[in-house]
Amino acid sequence: MQFFVDTANVDEIKEANALGILAGVTTNPSLVAKEGVDFHERLKEITAIVDGSVSAEVISTEAEGMITEGRELAKIAPNITVKVPMTLEGMKAVKVFTEENIQTNVTLVFSSVQALIAARAGATYVSPFLGRLDDIGHNGLDLISEISEIFNVHGIETKIIAASVRHSTHVAEAAARGAHIATIPFKVVPGLLKHPLTDQGIEKFLNDWENRKQ
Ligand code: E4P
Repeated sequence: MQFFVDTANVDEIKEANALGILAGVTTNPSLVAKEGVDFHERLKEITAIVDGSVSAEVISTEAEGMITEGRELAKIAPNITVKVPMTLEGMKAVKVFTEENIQTNVTLVFSSVQALIAARAGATYVSPFLGRLDDIGHNGLDLISEISEIFNVHGIETKIIAASVRHSTHVAEAAARGAHIATIPFKVVPGLLKHPLTDQGIEKFLNDWENRKQ
């Protein structure tokens, strides 16, 4: 499984990139709004930092508007992926983007049949939202397993991005259940590297070194 970071903040993206594990970035209108910057300018900055897919979401709710917006977004850089909501209008837009070789990420996926439809419309990526399903008492990780099984059985090449990730167990389980990518909020990243036994081990090694026989 690859790692994307789910943020529009340049400092966070640079820091994640310095770890050598960053394969892409996802943004959404809420994350961009928090930054208070020009959307296209920020995307230029991000696409210059990251050697991988950078998802930029359309705001229109009608296919025509999504297509116009998506074409403009795709002009920003070759690594832009146009993020489209999982709606009827969204699927019409995905069809057009696919014909125009523009990469797409279908977002706000909450069922396996939505993922299958998005894939058949030509989506490059689908983004099932784990945390938001958990929030309403469903098991988000089960959705990853279902989508993964359907895609495997039918030889579908659309990549599954585990989204709305809240903690490291989501990441580990999503990997085990067949997600190709996890897009992770920056604040979750340090927890992925942490283990109390690692910290204790370092402390003991340093202590023993300090007290070595001279
Ligand atoms: C995915 O691409 C979305 O940006 C994201 O994961 C949303 O998750 P949230 O539930 O943390 O807002």
